[in-house]
Order: sequence, then structure tokens, then C-alpha cells
Amino acid sequence: MNAKQLVGEKATEYVQNGMIVGLGTGSTAYYAIQKIGQMVSEGLKIQAVPTSNATERLARELNIPLLNVAEVREIDLTIDGADEFDPNKQLIKGGGGALLREKIIASITKFYICIADNGKRSDVLGSFALPVEVTPFAWEITAFQIEKLGCKPKLRYNGNDPFITDNQNYILDCKFDRIDRPTELNLKLNQIPGVVENGLFTNMVDLIICNTADNEIQIIK
Ligand code: 5RP
Repeated sequence: MNAKQLVGEKATEYVQNGMIVGLGTGSTAYYAIQKIGQMVSEGLKIQAVPTSNATERLARELNIPLLNVAEVREIDLTIDGADEFDPNKQLIKGGGGALLREKIIASITKFYICIADNGKRSDVLGSFALPVEVTPFAWEITAFQIEKLGCKPKLRYNGNDPFITDNQNYILDCKFDRIDRPTELNLKLNQIPGVVENGLFTNMVDLIICNTADNEIQIIK
């Protein structure tokens, strides 16, 4: 079994009858969602909230009951991937461009599980360019302001056109040498007009389920 499937399926052991479950986005969350779909077909009773249009489509294909986000105020459990994690369970997310919805869902989640393969492990965040969702209007000004925080922002493209998020915004991938104080950087970024949200998930994670170099499951509390 590949590492993404290993950690994705392990996380579904935390899903219980009656829960409202946040469904993450990406190739690791895919395996968790597939498994939840199977559990639902075998009688599990949950209601889910997707973190992207892609995840919503997948959940519908699998007949996982979905809640309208407008009616949700609290989520029992969310399972989502990451692009990088550190020993303090701080994350960089947004490689798939879904960071805004993912972060809104994370912010009302009682128990948040991050699923990530060994390659996402890092002593200090910053190997992965930090995705920052920005308004298309004056994105160049926003990028200029972000650059002053010590990084190189690059507009994300999809072919010849800028990548457009589910919320009709752009993504700037911002390469920092190292992010020593993620909580501080998170606040600074979100104070810049034009920044909608950034991919630093600080103090949001309860558990990381990852694999080791020997492909054993490791649970980081
Ligand atoms: C999407 C995300 C994903 O969780 C992150 O990119 C990890 O993706 P994958 O599991 O495909 O490596 O944040 O916005």
C-alpha cells in the first residue's frame, strides 16, 4: 500500500457514527474519502462538509451525505493533507489551491487530523513555497507587499493563464528560506490588503498521521 493510502485510511478509524466530518482536498485526502465512501455504503451514518469543489464532486460520486456549509457552525472531525509539517504540528497547505476553504473548515473543527507522507516532514517550515490566496485586483501590489516579508512571490499558472481558485482568486507561491515563526508570519500576511488567506495552518492540528522511512504508521500528538 502506498504511503498516502496508508495514512489516509488510518485516519478514517477516527470517524464515528453521527459525526459531522470535514473532507480535505488532495491526493492523500482522496484515499480517506474513498474509505469513508466505502464505510457509508456499509452503514456508517455521517454528514460531511467538503473543502473544495473537487472534493464535493468526489463525495457526491461516493454517495457521502453532504451538508450545506451555510448550515454548519461546528465540525466534529476533519481529515486533510498538507504540503509540509514541522515537529510542532504547524503546516503549510494550499499546494492544491484549496487553502481558503480548508482553513475555514479547520477553524470550526473540534478535532483536526493531518495526513501526510514522510516526504512532507520538515524541521523548519519553508521548503515548500507558501501558497497565498490573493484578489486578482492589483495582485502585483499585493505581491510587492508580501515580498517585503522576505520571500519571492510567484503567480501560480494553469497553462498560459493564472490559476483560479474555487473562490475566483489567484495564488502567489511565496518561497521563504525558512519560516522560523509561522504564527507571526500568518498574522503579518493576513494584514496585507489583497491577501485573502495564506497556507500557514498554525495551532490548528490535533494529530498528524504520517509514515516513517520504513513505511510504518506514526502518530504525532
Ligand atoms: C490543497 C492542500 C492539500 O492538502 C495539500 O496540497 C496536500 O496535497 P497532497 O495530499 O495531494 O500531497 O492543501 O490545497
